[in-house]
Amino acid sequence: MSLVKLEHINKLYFLDSDLSFQALKDINVVIQKGEFVAIVGPSGSGKSTLMNIIGLLDQPSSGEYILDGLDISKLKENKLAQLRNKKIGFIFQSFNLLKRTKAIDNVALPLIYAGVGQSERLARAKKALEEVGLADKLNSLPNQLSGGQQQRVAIARALVTNPEILLADEPTGNLDSKTGEEILKLFKTLNKTGRTIILITHDHHIADNAKRKITLKDGEIS
Ligand SMILES: Nc1ncnc2c1ncn2[C@@H]1O[C@H](COP(=O)(O)OP(=O)(O)O)[C@@H](O)[C@H]1O
Ligand SMILES: [Mg+2]
Repeated sequence: MSLVKLEHINKLYFLDSDLSFQALKDINVVIQKGEFVAIVGPSGSGKSTLMNIIGLLDQPSSGEYILDGLDISKLKENKLAQLRNKKIGFIFQSFNLLKRTKAIDNVALPLIYAGVGQSERLARAKKALEEVGLADKLNSLPNQLSGGQQQRVAIARALVTNPEILLADEPTGNLDSKTGEEILKLFKTLNKTGRTIILITHDHHIADNAKRKITLKDGEIS
């Protein structure tokens, strides 16, 4: 069964009462469990719009999105938020870590929202940090870590809920090329252990790390 199925997805942004912009045009995408897919395209091509729809942060104007067998157009906002927390792990360009919070507590945070008790939260956060190679940095604050290490903490935070999909928007955008390569290597390892990864980037060289590329141009798949 497919994990992500987008059928005839359109997205319109309304700029004024009678003015709209079509950011996505008839998008059809199927992603299977265990895939490593890159969504690649220049700035303004609709990557973030598509990521927001896949990540349940925004809804399409028309078309169908089936996530893990569920038609998401039928769901209310609170159910969508629950589903987002359960199924999607987000990784952003700018890490988005809490500054005065130790690595282990940053990673454990999504488990608070998921209602997991404290001792299990810490055990799972520790395991996730071990998985990204930061077993020795559990108690470090973000400003005591390098950029690459901070992104690893963010990846551990995305992994800790054991989501169906890791959704990464320009995850190497704030890193030097060598550190970026290490992060891409980590994604490959995570994919080998069965994680489904969707990598969003404007850079074809970065996209080449994925097993499949979906190219966007002016809101269309080309
Ligand atoms: N909230 C919005 N309102 C109006 N237009 C938007 C909005 N968000 C994005 N757009 C437009 O949609 C197009 C695609 O944007 P985006 O998905 O952010 O592209 P990318 O991530 O590939 O740079 C751009 O032309 C952008 O200006
Ligand atoms: Mg973008």
